[in-house]
Amino acid sequence: MKLKDRVAIVTGAGRGIGRAVALAFCREGAAVALAARTASELEAVAAQINSQAGRALAVPTDVIREESVAALVEKVLAEFKRVDILVTAAGVAAFAPLVDTKPEDWDRMMAVNVRGVFLACRAVLPAMMKERRGTIINIVSVAAKRAIPGGAAYAASKHAVLGLTQVLAEEMRPHGVRVGALSPGAVDTALWDAVPNPPDRARMLRPEDVAEAALLMASLPPGASLEDLTLLPAGGIL
Ligand SMILES: NC(=O)c1ccc[n+]([C@@H]2O[C@H](COP(=O)([O-])OP(=O)(O)OC[C@H]3O[C@@H](n4cnc5c(N)ncnc54)[C@H](OP(=O)(O)O)[C@@H]3O)[C@@H](O)[C@H]2O)c1
Repeated sequence: MKLKDRVAIVTGAGRGIGRAVALAFCREGAAVALAARTASELEAVAAQINSQAGRALAVPTDVIREESVAALVEKVLAEFKRVDILVTAAGVAAFAPLVDTKPEDWDRMMAVNVRGVFLACRAVLPAMMKERRGTIINIVSVAAKRAIPGGAAYAASKHAVLGLTQVLAEEMRPHGVRVGALSPGAVDTALWDAVPNPPDRARMLRPEDVAEAALLMASLPPGASLEDLTLLPAGGIL
């Protein structure tokens, strides 16, 4: 098992990419704290993991609230004593040409996609720095790498996360904590449900594909760090 006895926090673990990452990490022996707002979705994922002899803890969390994120990390440390891995998969998306983009959609993406990642990273760092080891994987997007019309606000949030991730990787290098960005192309999740005229969902990546990439980043030997991984569907940008 590639993550035997490791402890991971996965935000956005109720569905989609975060859920797939949580299932894959538990399958590889990690204990995983599942964080998102919808308790019923977290409980369903936890029940699935625990029924397969894995270890999962559902912790309802709103990543934009500082005290909620602090409580998440406190609970994980109380339950599992360590945090070895953080995967930030909590995120939201809304697509429109910039001229039609609503300020409330801009604010929501900045809050969840940027502030949420900042708060989650900041909250786990003291525990990881103390242990002088840890892996942080921020789920970015190909939108931070390529210009996709209709995605200006989303791209702005993902460019911000990429910048945060790159600087944090440098800051954490002396502390033995590795920090990387995983940037998928389109993934077939509920995120696309509210998008009018989405690309062909059958040609998108599966959440399990992204989970495999996250597993690779988390399970590399400590002397190696995959810091910037772009994962595209075989068809490229859809
Ligand atoms: N799907 C794609 O094509 C794609 C491609 C590249 C990158 N990504 C990125 O991958 C990440 C996951 O996306 P997904 O496709 O898996 O979306 P998803 O299926 O909609 O899942 C999003 C998750 O984030 C959680 N979340 C949203 N707001 C939150 C908040 N304030 N606090 C805590 N959790 C929150 C949701 O749970 P609650 O609503 O219950 O809180 C849910 O568990 C996002 O950052 C997204 O931008 C997605």
